Amino acid sequence: MSISPEDAEFTKEILPGLLDEIFPSKINNNTQLYRHIINNEQLNSLPLAVNKNIHFRMLSLVDDGIGNLYRGIKGRGWKLEKLDEFKEEPLVYILYSTSDSLDEDTEINAFISLQFSDLILGDPSLGKVVYLFEIHLSSELQNQSLGTRFLLGIDKLSVSPTLKAHNCKGVELTVFIQNQRAFNWYRKNGYALASDSPPNEEYVILFKQTHSVT
Ligand SMILES: CC(C)(COP(=O)(O)OP(=O)(O)OC[C@H]1O[C@@H](n2cnc3c(N)ncnc32)[C@H](O)[C@@H]1OP(=O)(O)O)[C@@H](O)C(=O)NCCC(=O)NCCS
Repeated sequence: MSISPEDAEFTKEILPGLLDEIFPSKINNNTQLYRHIINNEQLNSLPLAVNKNIHFRMLSLVDDGIGNLYRGIKGRGWKLEKLDEFKEEPLVYILYSTSDSLDEDTEINAFISLQFSDLILGDPSLGKVVYLFEIHLSSELQNQSLGTRFLLGIDKLSVSPTLKAHNCKGVELTVFIQNQRAFNWYRKNGYALASDSPPNEEYVILFKQTHSVT
């Protein structure tokens, strides 16, 4: 995916401050969870052992949730590809952990990654979107409405005055067709097939309009 230098900068510098006001700094879902908001560059510049641990923990969450789909679709190299994405892609991460600091043994219990960009395939003049790269919860945290709460937070971000002023039209994401559960869950939460979602692919692009597209 290509992103303009302006959107990359906006993602790394502006989104974290907006997320700070929306995503709770602590969540008590039987266990106490602490929030960490960090962009990919900050993550990369943590001490190596910490950075490696966080990347490893995020990768493990992806693997536990939908690793079988990634292996089937992208082959055995999917983890290296995902690690490269963690490192290179301009993203802001919202991590939830039982630990209030990011250390070399911190567990990551849930994470979301976001980017501010053009509508993924549509005409860029149509506006901007919050692009939801990843949302993963550990199996212990699933089915307790936490994911829905996070999606509502992302909606709220997309209608914030700052994003409205930057012509944000909604939230976009990609989901594997085989990930029926997530697909149905997104549909239930107001996402629809984007008009330009490519046919005959392993994935679809879903869009939720939060501002009118002119
Ligand atoms: C997809 C995912 C993010 C959803 O988050 P979640 O917190 O589990 O979702 P919610 O609890 O808000 O809703 C999930 C379901 O639980 C149900 N639910 C929510 N709270 C519940 C409760 N207290 N008791 C029983 N059911 C409940 C919801 O109605 C919903 O039902 P549905 O699946 O039939 O739609 C999460 O399950 C996950 O991380 N999955 C693996 C990774 C993945 O697929 N990520 C998406 C990649 S694109």
